[in-house]
Amino acid sequence: MTSTTWLEYDPEDDIAWRPLRAFWRLRADTIYLNHGSFGPAPEPVHLNQARWKHELDAQPMDFFVRAYEPSWLTARGALANWIGAQPDELAFVENATAAMNVVADSFPLDADDEVLLTDHEYGAVVRIWERACRRAGAKAPRIVPLPRPFRTTDEVVEAIASQLTPSTKLVVVSHITSPTAVILPVEQIVARLRAAGVAVAIDGPHAPAQVDLDLDTLDCDFYCASCHKWLSAPFGSGFLFVAPRWQSVIQPPLLSWGRLLPAKPRNWADEFIWSGTRDPSPYLAVPSAIEFLESIGRLAFRRRTHALARYARQRITSLTGLEPLVPDDPAWYGTMAHCPLPPGPPDELQRALWTECGIEVPIVHWGGDRFVRVSCHLYNHRADLDRLVEGLDRLLARGL
Ligand SMILES: Cc1ncc(COP(=O)(O)O)c(C=O)c1O
Repeated sequence: MTSTTWLEYDPEDDIAWRPLRAFWRLRADTIYLNHGSFGPAPEPVHLNQARWKHELDAQPMDFFVRAYEPSWLTARGALANWIGAQPDELAFVENATAAMNVVADSFPLDADDEVLLTDHEYGAVVRIWERACRRAGAKAPRIVPLPRPFRTTDEVVEAIASQLTPSTKLVVVSHITSPTAVILPVEQIVARLRAAGVAVAIDGPHAPAQVDLDLDTLDCDFYCASCHKWLSAPFGSGFLFVAPRWQSVIQPPLLSWGRLLPAKPRNWADEFIWSGTRDPSPYLAVPSAIEFLESIGRLAFRRRTHALARYARQRITSLTGLEPLVPDDPAWYGTMAHCPLPPGPPDELQRALWTECGIEVPIVHWGGDRFVRVSCHLYNHRADLDRLVEGLDRLLARGL
């Protein structure tokens, strides 16, 4: 299997891509269209993780005392290389939520400082910053509305930049948004905000695998991500990137040895190596997820999954007659189709799609409207999307 091989296949040809389905353990009774929330790992990643777990269980002392730290550093090195960062700028954490909590607990905020977030941010991230501002005695974070619909990247940058005030210390922005699946122009946003002297924390769990990352060139202040979404690493794997200018302020949430005695932590990231005894196999298996993706070829992966997302978008749009928020362009959306639905109760529709059609797909309430967010991975086929459209057609007609 080489990247050239998969790149040569027509991304619309379901039969050519069918063999990849066998890499996933998904249940036969489920059409899984929610990789964006919880992205299961393919078989080679499970096997790799199981190998690490076996090493741990077979000789815990040898594993923790001798093998663990060098293995953690090797895994981090592979990830750093893949996302264009220096190893010392990265620490493994369990998920993007953990990473954002570290940033919020460490970022120096005074009572008159202001934090901005866009109106497309993940709800838990908003809560994290509400608490951080409350603790600092600062005003609640300000929510900046982005243009609706999206037309140009300049308009997005301007929408944020026009809201800066002398008090703005930090902007928190998603690389790819959760409720709306939009790829935001983070390169332009960071350049503009850094020039204005404002720090940027990027919430990026959807980005690894969906888009290329080159964090040193991006030059954001913080980048928070999960590897258990599109990269399909084991659940419980994520990372925090901290630019060198902020590393001295970072506080580890769990203070432990940092490194195993007699070694002492040398920098901020070392504090994250040893945070108490735990199963680190999700982190150590991250390189196997990178290898799996690269064995398909990341471009081939993106072409195939975008072709599926585009197909879903076209079919749902012709069913509802409602226009999506972004232009039909891979610069604005990748593996997730996001389509408006007629008004109605989101939870009931999502439940009925599962109980009556065996389809797991999130129905999202955002900005006063109802949407469906359709995740497409290598195990999905057009037939899955046809079933979704049939289900939506039937259930919407029933007033759901
Ligand atoms: C944009 C965004 N940020 C943060 C998160 C939280 O990710 P995790 O649950 O992996 O910490 C999600 C999860 O869907 C998300 O979509």
